[in-house]
Amino acid sequence: MILAIETSCDDTCAAVLTPDGRRALSNVVHTQTEHDRYGGVVPEVASRAHLERMEGVIATALERAGVSLSDVERVAVTVRPGLIGALLVGVAAAKGLAFARRLPLVPVDHLKGHVAAAYLERPDLRPPFVALIASGGHTALYNVAEDRSMELLGETLDDAAGEALDKGARMLGLGFPGGPAISKAARDGDPERHDFPVGLRDKKNLDFSFSGLKTSLLYKLKAMGPGEVEAELPHLAAGYEAAVVAALSGKLLRAARERGARSVVVAGGVAANGLLRKTLAGECERRGLDLVIPEPALCTDNAAMIGAASVDAEALPFPDYLPVTARSV
Ligand code: KG4
Ligand code: ZN
Repeated sequence: MILAIETSCDDTCAAVLTPDGRRALSNVVHTQTEHDRYGGVVPEVASRAHLERMEGVIATALERAGVSLSDVERVAVTVRPGLIGALLVGVAAAKGLAFARRLPLVPVDHLKGHVAAAYLERPDLRPPFVALIASGGHTALYNVAEDRSMELLGETLDDAAGEALDKGARMLGLGFPGGPAISKAARDGDPERHDFPVGLRDKKNLDFSFSGLKTSLLYKLKAMGPGEVEAELPHLAAGYEAAVVAALSGKLLRAARERGARSVVVAGGVAANGLLRKTLAGECERRGLDLVIPEPALCTDNAAMIGAASVDAEALPFPDYLPVTARSV
């Protein structure tokens, strides 16, 4: 069995997977609520909360999988990118367990983890495909080649898509995380009532930009009275959400066309977005593209995706990983 650990941001995660990394026997996520009142993740608070929860989350993952530590043959852990103090807690836990049992340790890249969630959703999925990763920290397009190596095709020039949703939600006085809050507020809204810019829509590149969208919302709010903002809230939320979705789906479809891809994968927290899923389902069907979006629990941060990605990463044998820190790999 593979034991996988993920602590790159504000979720303390552990999972147990079959040795081929294609099936999760358990996937435990403890989402830290300590950040809610700040409207964003506070790095130091995240590290401390990981430290308090890590042991219990690992124990629960083993228990739910019905295995014990002696069944674990390798340990996989996220080493980058992420909050350095948060990553360190997971890396230290993984190293400790691997060292105690003389197991190999596999350092895993978080973004490769998000892409690998697609293999858990569809174990028969074979590259090549184009992948969009859209989360609170990252927004990037990759081409995944037949040998599963990844080429960066484009990325955000400023905010990540999830970050844009989180900041937009904050401006609108909605809760955190902003993605689900904006979707909820947008339910009865008309996305066309207010005109929002879709960043880099007409540029031929595969990059994203959400700063213009944010500024546009700010100016609209400044020009409105408080009563007006309240009345317009569903429409503002719907327009803002639609602009984010248009940017993401537009560039993903452009990448698929340019690369002649037959399959596209979407992952990261924003892939849980209902409008994005619906838009892409329609567009992909029209173009004959096979669309793979993992179930929401595999899209947001989790350790099962890290275990899935670990089969493509180099395992460090005992005790070669002892000098490894989240910064050194
Ligand atoms: O992948 P993730 O859980 O953590 C990071 O690695 O960042 O992504 C979190 C982001 C947040 O910005 C959150 O607002 C967004 O994903 N998100 C959503 C939805 N659920 C989470 N955005 C839009 N619609 C959702 N349903
Ligand atoms: Zn993530």
